[in-house]
Amino acid sequence: MSTTTSETLPQSQRPPHKESKGGLEGIVAATTALSKVEGTAGQLTYCGYTIHDLVRKTLFEEIMHLLWFGHLPNQKELSGFKADLIAERSIPPMVMQVLRDLPASTEPMDALRTAVSAWGALSIKGHPSITQALAVTARFPLFLAAFHRLRRGQEPLESRPELDHAANYLYLLTGQVPKDEHVIGLNAYLVLLADHGMNASTFTARVVASTESDIVSALVAAIGALKGPLHGGAPSKVLDMLDAIGTVDNAERWLRDALARGERLMGFGHRVYKTEDPRAEELREMARVADPQGFVLARRVEELALALLHEQKPERRLYTNVEFYSAVLLASVGLVGDLFTPTFAISRVIGWAAHVLEQVDHNRLIRPEADYTGPTDLHFMPLDER
Ligand code: COA
Repeated sequence: MSTTTSETLPQSQRPPHKESKGGLEGIVAATTALSKVEGTAGQLTYCGYTIHDLVRKTLFEEIMHLLWFGHLPNQKELSGFKADLIAERSIPPMVMQVLRDLPASTEPMDALRTAVSAWGALSIKGHPSITQALAVTARFPLFLAAFHRLRRGQEPLESRPELDHAANYLYLLTGQVPKDEHVIGLNAYLVLLADHGMNASTFTARVVASTESDIVSALVAAIGALKGPLHGGAPSKVLDMLDAIGTVDNAERWLRDALARGERLMGFGHRVYKTEDPRAEELREMARVADPQGFVLARRVEELALALLHEQKPERRLYTNVEFYSAVLLASVGLVGDLFTPTFAISRVIGWAAHVLEQVDHNRLIRPEADYTGPTDLHFMPLDER
């Protein structure tokens, strides 16, 4: 029996394509109770709390608890939760060997992705769970700091149980108990970047989870998505830009030249925010205090970049995004540029894990369609006749 469907019709007789938008812009791909991003109002909330309330008053561990259990912990819950995290602070010998075997020239983001994957092969079995999320989250800073020390010819260090997540990460990198202001700055950064709606890496994690794959596979895929400069790879490029500009006097010419060459100014523009990113507002204030000298150049570059973008692309509504002052803040706590993006992953892993858990909780395979635009009805020629 022969049936006629739109696929079997000649192209000229087929119904018009369903509308598809490049980059899935404006498409709702999931429901979530985790974070709410309001692009026009410039608002971000986690489980109903505005980030402006959370950023200076919560530990990153509290945000983990909020995203995974749906409520902020009380003192007793937080103590138990922190103890569970601390108990997971170890790197199995096989994973440490993988990190030792990587060339020192490996990008830290690649080293993190590799270590997480190797650890998952050893440690993860079964359905995604909060226990698994906690075990892998606890290790992100350990993997990264171990690789950073190894590439510099130093031995990795043991975690210090009296230090919280942010402080322990800084300690593992340097071997020094970090200054309070550095811990406060890094903790605030981790809180601000923990979750952000259906961004590219979170969507990636949800797609993998929706196939009933494991949590580590979803997180490894998400690390890969975060790495690109249009997503999490921008902050070290912001630092490169500020270094290349060098002085306030050089800023306008440098920015005009970059735009004339058709380049994007790193740290500006956002798919969702058509006003200032609320995280940028907080990070600007923290950067102002953390590095008053570096802030002068950064602020002038920001002002000029905004003026030029508004002059040259007024209809695009391009504003400062999260990455611009992240770069200034992370440099001020002592991180080198190529650790910025993996440090973003140390924060965002808790959002990814929360989305994986949310996805598997009421799963349906994520499987969109593609609008085929290639040739049709070609006459097939066997190999020996081509
Ligand atoms: N500098 C200069 N122009 C920019 C720009 C930037 N930072 N961001 C966007 N634009 C321009 C594009 O060139 C394009 O202009 P055109 O249509 O005249 O060519 C227009 O704005 C729309 O760009 P598009 O790539 O479609 O927007 P998007 O929603 O996909 O982009 C980003 C979002 C984040 C990818 C984009 O703003 C960007 O590349 N920013 C720089 C990288 C960055 O900071 N990444 C971190 C994101 S948190």
